Amino acid sequence: MKEIATLKNIESPANMLEQFQAEVNEGLSDTNKSLPSKYFYNKKGDDLFVKIMHLPEYYVTRSEHEIFKEKSYSIIKSLNLDPDQYFELIELGAGDGTKTKELLSQLVAGNYSFDYLPIDISQNALDQLELDLSVTMPQVSVKTKQGDYFEVLESLKENQHPKIILFLGSNIGNMSDDIASNFINNLSQTLAFGDKLFLGVDLIKPASVVLPAYNDNQGVTAAFNLNLLERINTELEADFAIYDFKHQPEYDEKEGIATSFLVSKKNQEVFIKKLNRTFNFSKGEKILTEISRKYNDEILKKIITNTAFVIKDKITDSKKYFANYILERV
Ligand SMILES: C[S@@+](CC[C@H](N)C(=O)[O-])C[C@H]1O[C@@H](n2cnc3c(N)ncnc32)[C@H](O)[C@@H]1O
Repeated sequence: MKEIATLKNIESPANMLEQFQAEVNEGLSDTNKSLPSKYFYNKKGDDLFVKIMHLPEYYVTRSEHEIFKEKSYSIIKSLNLDPDQYFELIELGAGDGTKTKELLSQLVAGNYSFDYLPIDISQNALDQLELDLSVTMPQVSVKTKQGDYFEVLESLKENQHPKIILFLGSNIGNMSDDIASNFINNLSQTLAFGDKLFLGVDLIKPASVVLPAYNDNQGVTAAFNLNLLERINTELEADFAIYDFKHQPEYDEKEGIATSFLVSKKNQEVFIKKLNRTFNFSKGEKILTEISRKYNDEILKKIITNTAFVIKDKITDSKKYFANYILERV
């Protein structure tokens, strides 16, 4: 019998707005201006990201989807799942759940006993996912949780059930290595012996493949990036002239780090009413909006050193563009 439950929300809309305000203020006050990438995801941002996932240049989703489509049996085997043992399948930053649905359908077919708990900062993404699953996979018990995944870790301790954490789409790549290491360590501390983290990471590859993925011909990624300013205009009553900024992706091939910026096309002032503050932008000044770190075994091993995880397995797509690592809590 399908059960849909919404667990206690971590962040009320009022808290989220306050936090948005504080983080925008902090990021734009810095000498090197930045804005947190988690704010890309409002209704318009969610829709644009779904478009990005289908772009010919955006190999990231296609590569990981291939793993889920072609190798879901290997995934279940690597996770060491037992159909008679109930577990919680928890997904951090679930988005539209396209890839996860491949795994869910295999689990349903195999009569596994589990609840699916997608966590996302976007209530809109969760509502759409819940509706979608209620139609396409009514057998799956779905319990959504809205909030910042940095803040939901404590709630994972609420029960002793075995847990599988999905962290897909190279979402971890939006964190610096230090923050990722800390996050994975905190996550490992909230889990119990034998629990697993199924971690999807984009692998290091040449700029000729990476850069177009963040700079598509149709300008969808540019619109996605600029939507951050539109969101500040709407929610914080600012007067950003969107056409006076441009999207600029960069990739440091040696380090394996892609970055996205919004660049001011001229000297200008922007007033943010909710902050009662004016911010100055000089011509060519950049706002860092996203980092997308790429990985290899060495980098991942370094990140999980000093955490309670060990690498149990690794599954890649046919082009070796993407890897899903199975980390086990020891
Ligand atoms: C790049 S999309 C990836 C979606 C999905 N994991 C995939 O692989 O296709 C990132 C998702 O994570 C969510 N997200 C981003 N930052 C978050 C945060 N700090 N806490 C919770 N969710 C977050 C976004 O709302 C969005 O749905």
